[in-house]
Amino acid sequence: MVNSKILLGITGSIAAYKSVEIGRRLIDEGYSVQVVMTKSACNFITPLTLESVTGKPVLTDLFSDPFSHINLSKESSLLLIAPATANTINKLRCGIADDLLSNLWLTHEGPTLIAPAMNHRMYRHFSVQKSIKELQKLGVNFVGPVSGSLACGEEGEGRMADVSTIVEAAIAALTQKDLKGQHILVTAGPTLEAIDPVRFISNRSSGKMGYAIAKAALRRGAKVTLISGPTSQMPLEGVYFISVEKASEMETAVLKHLPKATAVIMAAAVADFAPAIINQSKITKNNISSITLKKTTDILKKTGKIKNKRILIGFAAETGKNIENAKAKLKEKNLDLIVLNDVTQKGAGFNVDTNIVTIIDRKGKVADYPLMKKIEVANVILDGLLEVRKRGNL
Ligand code: PMT
Repeated sequence: MVNSKILLGITGSIAAYKSVEIGRRLIDEGYSVQVVMTKSACNFITPLTLESVTGKPVLTDLFSDPFSHINLSKESSLLLIAPATANTINKLRCGIADDLLSNLWLTHEGPTLIAPAMNHRMYRHFSVQKSIKELQKLGVNFVGPVSGSLACGEEGEGRMADVSTIVEAAIAALTQKDLKGQHILVTAGPTLEAIDPVRFISNRSSGKMGYAIAKAALRRGAKVTLISGPTSQMPLEGVYFISVEKASEMETAVLKHLPKATAVIMAAAVADFAPAIINQSKITKNNISSITLKKTTDILKKTGKIKNKRILIGFAAETGKNIENAKAKLKEKNLDLIVLNDVTQKGAGFNVDTNIVTIIDRKGKVADYPLMKKIEVANVILDGLLEVRKRGNL
């Protein structure tokens, strides 16, 4: 992340307590967050709470440092105001600079993202609507508000958008849209192959790797179709999501959505075998000594045969750094890149937030990466995809 400091402005709304979580999540994503609070915001939460989360003094006073309103904006890449009250939004439109936050808005030259929060009648007031429209015309981005129950007990449009939506919008505002025009189909999670209505066989996978790829691609401006086996991952807003259970359903979904895809990345841990017969009722313990298995379709290999100009990226889950196995899979399945992860390494493979990967291309070039967060691994894979695209599928 180049110049990754975010100025988080907090104004006087009951939703101010959610800013703590916004700050924390942005820091988790690797951004540096500098909080600026208005006097009214300090009536709802204390600067100390935000200082504890960001590890930095919270700024509330225009005069404590005569140049803070200039220097802070120079150093920051995004001004995020969440929550933003009717008063603040109207002040921004008019350029009234009577506190540190409104001064920062006048000196800030990068993108601005505003998350309004107020009573629904205030939100509908012509002055607020006019301000929002004019600010939007100037290129200011808005996220929310949404409809729902408000702090005053009334229902209507005025609730601040969800924390996740605001965090994603902030990251999207800072991310180069280098995948615009691409439509990426991603597979994630395990598949479950039923033995009977109660039991199944499956592969280990939390879906974290595949969902990270979908999230990173979306942030970089791609359209994303995510085909996922059963996981406990949070749904991703903005992604076209298809839920499947067994390998045959994943195969049908991949083939159905392949025509519109420009690239396919298969991170799913598809079960290689399924019971040959699915019992319609629960098998009693004493009536079973073995299960006959049949091979499932290799979806990646099948896709490799019909990929045309699409970029195809597969994973190799190996128990050991088996470069030769991964290279064989790349060739056999007609891939452009293969991402090898040794699932026996600490911090790599299933169920963890990190991974250690080696990426191999068609020419046999091998690139090793250190332990990284899965979202970082996802970005490295997407960089590789762009590289392949630039060179014309190698
Ligand atoms: O979900 P997480 O907990 O984050 O874990 C991530 C992961 C370890 C599952 C992921 O990083 C990973 O390695 N995914 C591939 C798992 C796998 O099935 O690997 P494989 O070497 O057996 O298969 C090779 C490739 O063929 C994979 O792209 C797989 O999606 C695909 N395949 C496999 C079998 C099959 N029947 N159809 C397929 O398309």
